[in-house]
Amino acid sequence: AAAYTAVDRAESEIAAAWALNAVAPALLAAATARAGIPLVHVSTDYVFDGRTEAPCTPDTPIDPQSVYGASKAAGEIAVRSANPRHAILRTAWVASPHRGNFVKTMLRLAAERERLSVVDDQHGSPTSAGDLAAGLAQIAQALARDPTAPTGTHHFVNTGATTWCGFARAIVAGAARRGARAVPVEAIPTSAFPTPARRPTYSVLSTASLTAAYGLRPRPWERALDDILDRLVGPERTTTETQA
Ligand SMILES: NC(=O)c1ccc[n+]([C@@H]2O[C@H](COP(=O)([O-])OP(=O)(O)OC[C@H]3O[C@@H](n4cnc5c(N)ncnc54)[C@H](OP(=O)(O)O)[C@@H]3O)[C@@H](O)[C@H]2O)c1
Repeated sequence: AAAYTAVDRAESEIAAAWALNAVAPALLAAATARAGIPLVHVSTDYVFDGRTEAPCTPDTPIDPQSVYGASKAAGEIAVRSANPRHAILRTAWVASPHRGNFVKTMLRLAAERERLSVVDDQHGSPTSAGDLAAGLAQIAQALARDPTAPTGTHHFVNTGATTWCGFARAIVAGAARRGARAVPVEAIPTSAFPTPARRPTYSVLSTASLTAAYGLRPRPWERALDDILDRLVGPERTTTETQA
């Protein structure tokens, strides 16, 4: 899972992003292949250009729009070519109760500001790091135990899709159900929030091949978000508790 993940900074730190996201997986894939060890590698929805209108499958052609996306795409190619016993799992919009992520940022801003403005024209698949970790562990076990276990590239995201604004509204509403204060979340276009790196407009990922290969069925992102909010904010309150 180690990677150069500063998507915007990668636009100016090209060599560092390439070293960690392309060269390091190449070395890891070569070393694991020599040792006869299968490799599970994590990649990203940012390998896609975001111009599709249906969920991307592993067969959807890639066309990264950023240095980060290009460096992760190069890492995928290196893993595929150096170790045939690999599982590359593309994920997206990962959040958890730990470290920095979108859920924690929205909770902090909702506590500090009177209103939030969030991009509403980028569509994706929010994903729980805990759900992803459990899935990766199952795939690793399958590959370790069974030399004929499926390999290849698959997508692991929680199911359903939303925009960053829709995700932010769900976070604020979910926190309010747990006693936090609710603030309005205004929808803005990407053009109103310029960033150094270009991000896909639509990078919803299909998990059909993951289910076919490993029998894994990720749950809807809203349920996964509830678990994260339970940990970060507390359990949902009853109507009486909220009124009190
Ligand atoms: N977050 C997302 O929304 C998202 C979406 C799609 C794909 N991904 C992929 O998911 C994976 C995990 O990303 P993340 O979001 O969890 O990012 P993260 O929080 O930045 O974690 C990256 C990890 O890489 C480690 N690392 C960084 N530089 C290293 C180096 N030179 N040597 C060894 N380890 C190093 C970091 O170590 P420290 O703990 O010491 O900092 C950290 O544990 C990555 O492959 C990323 O491309 C993430």
